[in-house]
Amino acid sequence: MKKIAVLTSGGDAPGMNAAIRAVVRRGIYKRFEVLGVRFGYQGLIQGDYIPLEVGSVGDIIHRGGTVLYSARCEAFKTEGGRKMAIRNLKEKEVDGLIVIGGDGSFRGALQLTKMGYPTVGVPATIDNDIAGTDFSLGFDTAVNTVIEAIDRIRDTATSLERTYVIEVMGRDRGNIALWSGLAGGAESILIPEAQIDMDDIIERLVQGQKRGKKHSIIIVAEGVAKGSNIGDVIRQRTGFETRVTVLGHIQRGGSPTAFDRLLGSQMGAMAVDLLTAGKAGVMVGMQNNQLVAVPFEYALSQSPQLPLTLYELAHSLSI
Ligand code: ADP
Ligand code: F6P
Repeated sequence: MKKIAVLTSGGDAPGMNAAIRAVVRRGIYKRFEVLGVRFGYQGLIQGDYIPLEVGSVGDIIHRGGTVLYSARCEAFKTEGGRKMAIRNLKEKEVDGLIVIGGDGSFRGALQLTKMGYPTVGVPATIDNDIAGTDFSLGFDTAVNTVIEAIDRIRDTATSLERTYVIEVMGRDRGNIALWSGLAGGAESILIPEAQIDMDDIIERLVQGQKRGKKHSIIIVAEGVAKGSNIGDVIRQRTGFETRVTVLGHIQRGGSPTAFDRLLGSQMGAMAVDLLTAGKAGVMVGMQNNQLVAVPFEYALSQSPQLPLTLYELAHSLSI
C-alpha cells in the first residue's frame, strides 16, 4: 500500500476535522501519500480528489464541521455508483479508503469492502448511535452544547417561574437527551428507549411547584414527540406558564471539546494503522477506554446500547 484516501460522509460532527488531521499526519508519518475526497461518496463518484500535505490540515483541530465537506449521495446506494467510485479510486492508484461518518456511511463502506475495495471507518455522529463503540465523534461536544443551552434557559425560567420544554436531536436514539438531561438537572427526560409516562411528568411538575420550585425543565428527544406537543399537554394539564425551545442544528456545530479532539486524533491514527496493516471492513471503536477494531457487519447488525442505568439515575435524582 502506498496511497490512501479519506472522506467524511453523512451528518457532520465536531471532531471530524481532528480525525482528518490525524489520518493525514499519521499517513504521512508512515510514508504514505494521502488524498482527500471532497463531499463524501458524491466526490468519490465524481472524482473530486485533493492532495493533502502536513500543512493542509494545520489549524483545523479546533474547528467544527468538516474541511472535506460532506454529502448525502443516493447514487452510491446503487451498484453502478459504487463501481464508478472504485474505478476512480483505482485510476488515482489509491490503495485503501478511510470513511469518517455514521451508520449510513458505514453501510456504504461495507458494500465497498464486499466489492473487494479495502475500507476502514471512524464513527462520527452526534447521535452516538453506533454499536461497538462507547462514543462516536461529536457526541460529547453536542451534549456540552445542550447543557450550555439548558443552563441559560434555567436562568430565565427561574426568573419568571416558568416550565420549559427543550427539544433536542435524536431521531431514533435518546443519547443526547439522556446525557444532557442528567448533566443539566432536568426534571424529566423523554427518550425513545423508555415508555413515556405523562402522568408521572405532570405529577413531578405539580409536586415540584408545591415544594416551591422556581422552574422546571423537560428534555425531549425529537424521536419521541415534538416539543410543542409536550408543551401543549403540560399547559393544558397544569396551567403552568410553559415555553418550548427547539435547539436544532445548533447542536451539530461548534468547536469540538477536548474529548472529541482526543477521540478524533486517536481514532484517525488507528484507522491508518489498521488499513495499512491490511485490516479492512472494520471501524475503529472505543470500548472501556481501549481502541478496538469492530467489523462493520457487527456495528451495523447490533442495536446500540443506551445506558438505561443513567435514565434510572436521572429519574431518581430529579424528585
Ligand atoms: P450517516 O453516515 O451520518 O448515518 P446517512 O445515513 O445519510 O448518514 O448516510 C450517508 C451516505 O452513506 C448516504 O447518503 C449514502 O451515500 C451512503 N449510504 C447509506 N446507506 C447506504 C447503503 N445501504 N448502501 C450504500 N451506501 C449507503
Ligand atoms: O447528525 C444526526 C442528526 O443530527 C439527527 O439527530 C437529526 O435528526 C439529523 O441529523 C438531522 O440532519 P439533517 O438535517 O442533516 O437531515
